[in-house]
Amino acid sequence: MQGALWLLATNTLLLAVPRLVNEGIAVVEGTTGRGGSLLALFGLPTDRLWPVVAAIGVCALLGAGARVASRVVLFNVGRDVERELRGETFAHLATLSPGWFREHNVGDLMSRLTSDMTNIRLLGGFALMNALNTAIVFAATLPIVLALDVQVAALALAPFPLVILGAQLTARVVFKRTREVQAALGALTTRVQENLAGQAVVRAFSREAAEETSFDGTNQELRRRSLSLALARMVFAPIGGLGALGVALALYAGGAAVLAGRLDVGDVVELSTRLVQLGWPMMALGLIISVIQRGRASLSRIHELLRARPDIVDGTVDRPVQGVVEANGLTVEVAPGKVGLADLHVKVERGRVLGIVGKNGAGKSTLLRALARQLPCPRGQLALDGVDVNDWHLRALHAGVGVVPEEAFLFSDTLRDNLAFGRPDATDAEIEAVVDLCDLRRDVTALPAGLATLVGERGVTLSGGQKQRVALARAILSRPAVLLLDDCLSAVDSETEANIVAALRRGFVTAGGDTRPPTLLVVSHRLSAVREADEVIVLDGGRVAERGTHDQLLALGGHYAQLWGREQRRRALGAEP
Ligand SMILES: Nc1ncnc2c1ncn2[C@@H]1O[C@H](COP(=O)(O)OP(=O)(O)OP(=O)(O)O)[C@@H](O)[C@H]1O
Ligand SMILES: [Mg+2]
Repeated sequence: MQGALWLLATNTLLLAVPRLVNEGIAVVEGTTGRGGSLLALFGLPTDRLWPVVAAIGVCALLGAGARVASRVVLFNVGRDVERELRGETFAHLATLSPGWFREHNVGDLMSRLTSDMTNIRLLGGFALMNALNTAIVFAATLPIVLALDVQVAALALAPFPLVILGAQLTARVVFKRTREVQAALGALTTRVQENLAGQAVVRAFSREAAEETSFDGTNQELRRRSLSLALARMVFAPIGGLGALGVALALYAGGAAVLAGRLDVGDVVELSTRLVQLGWPMMALGLIISVIQRGRASLSRIHELLRARPDIVDGTVDRPVQGVVEANGLTVEVAPGKVGLADLHVKVERGRVLGIVGKNGAGKSTLLRALARQLPCPRGQLALDGVDVNDWHLRALHAGVGVVPEEAFLFSDTLRDNLAFGRPDATDAEIEAVVDLCDLRRDVTALPAGLATLVGERGVTLSGGQKQRVALARAILSRPAVLLLDDCLSAVDSETEANIVAALRRGFVTAGGDTRPPTLLVVSHRLSAVREADEVIVLDGGRVAERGTHDQLLALGGHYAQLWGREQRRRALGAEP
């Protein structure tokens, strides 16, 4: 609003100039001029030249000042819009489920949060300002020009409808091509991101040249699309120039009117100056339309993100988790029509340990993901403390159910901050306790700055087994009542794995709070890790194939017993540490 007022002030001042010039010429020629006198309006003498010169000077100076003010205000609008929309989109992404992120690649999301936001900023700042400016200049100039002489004005304005028509035609093309450019940019960002992340793999397979060729293709595609967008935008520029034709027509028709005595020379000068003043807003129209269309295209890409509804929604039960897990005919679809886990019945009391084993793809992770609410879960089949998992408040559930995946993700931060990620207020004693519990003591001592060592991209690279134990320690520090270990010690030797599971069984050594042992769901490819479990389920193709305690399963002589035999032989041969 403030910006619009500044624009209005700018234009009032600058649009007064041609009339003043007209009055100046009238003074020189000794005529009176046709339009009303601005000088007379302000009580200045109309038969002298100096008030005209002074007034033009004042208008030009104030007009320039007001233009600067209008730009500052209106461009800020664009930046505010950009910041708010980016914040809102970022926050919205945090509500979407892991499944949604598996379907969308990081590169595309990054380009939406960066370059699309730039287009939207230009829409909210540049385009808004110039659209307002063009509207004001046109609304003010047209009546004045028509009042001077209808015939001359009509002729001079004749090319303008053509310009509007041309603008409309280009608009649609610009919109479509912008979406294509942004999509190509997303594809390029994805390639860059994946190649940087997968550097080691690319090198190990000597695929640098092939990747470069393939990157070149993506790069070329972006270039092609960008050029085709630039072409569409360029086509409009000369159409905008048609306005200049109007000035020529005005001079021709105006000259005739002067000879016929209908107009003074000053009037013709004013008329053609006003047409020149229409020139920039006219040219800007092309730019505005292209910026608006690019902004709209980017806005539509952001709306696609904002329209995505989380498929895992919050429930209302918000209280500390006690840790009783019960599956009643649990059947989980991992993708439409693809069942990852079928008809599972199991109950685990607080402090008990459930071992989950089975081949790759048997459905082990699916069970843990359903409980951690990373996958949509049908109602009435999975309960935590007797409450359907769907009814739990996500924050309460995540606080009470800790999940440790096989792939540990650490942030580029100090080891201590990584450990305390879920509990920034953890005391030193608590941190030391989890370090011991997860058998990290020796590793920490060996690091150059102990717990204060930077790890990750900017610091020391931890080994796979170290990372896994840090991720486990991080989960334990949050004191969950239920801990889900998804083969998260696969890179740790089997004895240490068994020791850690046994230590977890005895409970967390935490200062204050609930120190009862947590409920443990342990997925492992090594049976030694689940040997002490209260119950072990052997999954196969998403179904329970065998179940019981370690001893019962051995007595059964089935798949589990076979695996155990193989594991024992490997150990005897020294193949398994
Ligand atoms: N997003 C998905 N889309 C399609 N299929 C999936 C998806 N996630 C999992 N699956 C399939 O569901 C089945 C169970 O997968 P799950 O991850 O539970 O296996 P797992 O027992 O944990 O295997 P592993 O020992 O390799 O970790 C597999 O056949 C897998 O391919
Ligand atoms: Mg798995």
